[in-house]
Amino acid sequence: MSRVLVLNGPNLGRLGVREPEVYGSATHADLVAAVAGWADELGLEVEVRQTDDESVLVGWLHEAVDARAHVALNPAAFTHYSYALRDAAAQVTQAGLVLVEVHLSNPYARESFRHVSVVGPIATGTIAGFGVHGYHLALEVVAARV
Ligand code: DQA
Repeated sequence: MSRVLVLNGPNLGRLGVREPEVYGSATHADLVAAVAGWADELGLEVEVRQTDDESVLVGWLHEAVDARAHVALNPAAFTHYSYALRDAAAQVTQAGLVLVEVHLSNPYARESFRHVSVVGPIATGTIAGFGVHGYHLALEVVAARV
């Protein structure tokens, strides 16, 4: 069974409380439950993690490479400036694994600092603007490609 790590970056543990008009009313626990259901349907072994810590996220990307796990990554604010995260994420795709960049909101419809993603150019692809459903799309992409 193919393994997928769903990795969420800073402030995504605040889902449901933080700007619900932008990110929706689902909590991170709701997201975890939804992902578990989709993973079952798609026959994927999926684990969802969230951290506010850049170095932890980098470590999890290294772990994905070593464990040959595909990745759905919402880098949150790190998207826009973290070259360390970008370099770690690049190792996932360089290893021949799928890395889907996911955003709940559509960063291109928001403030200009969100228009740049340093992760996008090294990702397999990006899904943005579809809320929690974007994670379902990301898992479907992985399932279709493995
Ligand atoms: C986000 C978009 C980022 O710009 C923002 O910093 C986030 C969440 C999204 O899922 O829409 O924290 O990645």
